[in-house]
Amino acid sequence: MLKPSASIAAKAIVNDLRAQGRKVVDFTIGEPDLDTPPAIVDAGIAAMRSGDTHYTASNGTAPLRAAISAKYARENGLDIAPEDIVVGVGAKQLIFEAFAATLDDGDEVIVPAPYWVSYPDIVRLNGGEPVIVPCPADADFKLTPETLEAALTERTRWVILCAPSNPTGATYTTAELAGLAEVLMRHPQVAVMTDDIYEHLIYDGAKVDNILRVEPRLAGRVVLINGMSKAYAMTGWRIGFAAGPSHVIGAITKLLGQSTTCACSFAQAAAAEALNGDQSAVADMVAIYQRRRDLMYRRLSDIPGLSCAKPEGAFYIYPDVSALIGRTAPDGTVLGSDRDVALYFLREAGVAVMDGEAYGMSPYLRLSFATSEETINEGCTLIAQACAALS
Ligand SMILES: Cc1ncc(COP(=O)(O)O)c(C=O)c1O
Repeated sequence: MLKPSASIAAKAIVNDLRAQGRKVVDFTIGEPDLDTPPAIVDAGIAAMRSGDTHYTASNGTAPLRAAISAKYARENGLDIAPEDIVVGVGAKQLIFEAFAATLDDGDEVIVPAPYWVSYPDIVRLNGGEPVIVPCPADADFKLTPETLEAALTERTRWVILCAPSNPTGATYTTAELAGLAEVLMRHPQVAVMTDDIYEHLIYDGAKVDNILRVEPRLAGRVVLINGMSKAYAMTGWRIGFAAGPSHVIGAITKLLGQSTTCACSFAQAAAAEALNGDQSAVADMVAIYQRRRDLMYRRLSDIPGLSCAKPEGAFYIYPDVSALIGRTAPDGTVLGSDRDVALYFLREAGVAVMDGEAYGMSPYLRLSFATSEETINEGCTLIAQACAALS
């Protein structure tokens, strides 16, 4: 059965509680709290005023696809022609349509866990079989050549790689990508989807690499997914893009033509400005997230019962809460799972977090630091008190 997106459901619970007058510190947020930079907003308004208010080509406007092609050359060292790019209504739509275009019933898609909540359901909705591959903390929450090899079968059609990862922030080194590519070179029937939506949100000056740059012989088998939502704080504009082999991009374009027709015309103009324009707003936002990450990591690491890995990217921390399992709340409830811990934090502390079960690996929680330093301090203090109240 199709589950509602866990993060969207969590947002609804927080809104309900607030409507009832409860004060809730919300660490479930899956989007930047910062506003879209003004130059991008201005470009959208200018486009609207100049009459850019009509349907566009289903694969996106020529200026936006040119801007995306230039971005791949400039930032990723990838030579991707505008014809091999399709623009959609968010990265999520393109992930959906890529699977809709390619999966036959029973085809397997390897989903490394912990995973973004939507992957398994999107695969299932398109007749595929998600094959969840646990990537534990001692593997830094990453797929290894060994775990990949062991999960491949004759039915494997896709492997999804998401880095920096939602929910752990883990990223792959160039050497690690080379190791995965070596396995994939031996299995030519398997395609790779790289979800690069968090690629700019990366800390301590680190750089992310892409498996296609590392192993160019994978061209024809790699579909890159990306979008404006996270790096440019443009979630509501709903612009994502995919790049890859023409048979997949062409099939996605046909599906878009018969479903949404095209992405919003003036949002595409704003996205082109975002990609072509001054990138300092992105660097400023990354600096803000890095300070918040450092703060939340320090505060959570100080709480007995939580054990954290420091995220290298994205805006989430994924603490291990195994030390809280089996403990007893003041009202006598025994915490049996990470979901119980999340409910306890909500009930006792008024702090909303996501449970690891939703991301396919327990017992963990996911806390978002896409919120102010004041909120981070307040919520961490409340969580520390709730943990101290357990017996
Ligand atoms: C890993 C990952 N991929 C894709 C998306 C979807 O992004 P978009 O807003 O472009 O649809 C999200 C949003 O939370 C995400 O976390």
